Amino acid sequence: MRLIKTVFELEAWFVETGRRNKTLGFVPTMGYLHEGHCSLIKAAKAQNELVVVSIFVNPTQFAPGEDFENYPSDIDRDCKLAIISGADAVFNPEVEEIYIPGSSTVIEVTGEMTKKLCGASRPMHFKGVTTVVGIFFNIVRPDKAYFGQKDAQQALIIKKMVMDLHIPVEVIVCPIVREADGLAMSSRNVYLSPEERKQASCISGALQKAAEYLENGVEDRCNVVQLVEIIESHIRRQNMASIDYVRIIDGETFDDIAVIKPGRTVLAAVAVRFGKTRLIDNRILSISWEVQKCL
Ligand code: PAJ
Repeated sequence: MRLIKTVFELEAWFVETGRRNKTLGFVPTMGYLHEGHCSLIKAAKAQNELVVVSIFVNPTQFAPGEDFENYPSDIDRDCKLAIISGADAVFNPEVEEIYIPGSSTVIEVTGEMTKKLCGASRPMHFKGVTTVVGIFFNIVRPDKAYFGQKDAQQALIIKKMVMDLHIPVEVIVCPIVREADGLAMSSRNVYLSPEERKQASCISGALQKAAEYLENGVEDRCNVVQLVEIIESHIRRQNMASIDYVRIIDGETFDDIAVIKPGRTVLAAVAVRFGKTRLIDNRILSISWEVQKCL
């Protein structure tokens, strides 16, 4: 496994490994790897001959006052986890390597898709994400790139960017990996105090409640207002939780929906703050025959 710091070194590694005649999978990350990241690397390994993992805490996706300066990092541990999971190279560039001095180009997916949900409380965030992922796609030129369903809105926006800009990469979205109590794994979970960490399992618990409610659905349970109420009331039981948003949306377009219709993917998406830590989670809801019958 190779630790690569520059674009020049990466190009040399491509020649060395005969990359031109091989399939390449790419997993972009901000490091401090956990099982969620590792699942993406494993998926990439299973589907490609070479796997590159990037570790880059991207300054442009953090707003002033967010955790850019304190973002957790442990490159040695990350390299070990990346190797175990199947990475052939870890690309860990400095900021100036990615944003060349004087660079003034951004990539922005416009419209509602980037303004709602996480875009509402983090207005510049997705512009930073698409810009850096676009730059990485140009540098790494992967055949397939792997993203987590955990950041469902991010994955949707990246798919849109790839489609709009005709970027020749296949975007693959992998399932959410969770802790034993259901909390979605995140590099930011380390910010939680022991009590906050305990309470944070209410997020996945609330999504579970919503799923169960729909599975046992009857006629009056098609309205999303009730579903939102189930999720919110479960989270509100924890005194340290402060809800940023709870939304029931179309899983393909992220449009708000008023009534759950059969044949469509429905996503429950939530963001909850515990102190300064903002956690996100989501769950695809399946709808029982009884619910469909009433529509
Ligand atoms: P980061 O938060 O490090 O996440 C890197 C990738 O891991 C993302 O695609 C994310 O969705 C996925 N991931 C995180 N937690 C996961 C979990 N519990 N289960 C499955 N996948 C999970 O997302 C970013 O970095 C950045 O925005 C990035 C795309 C690298 C651009 O800077």
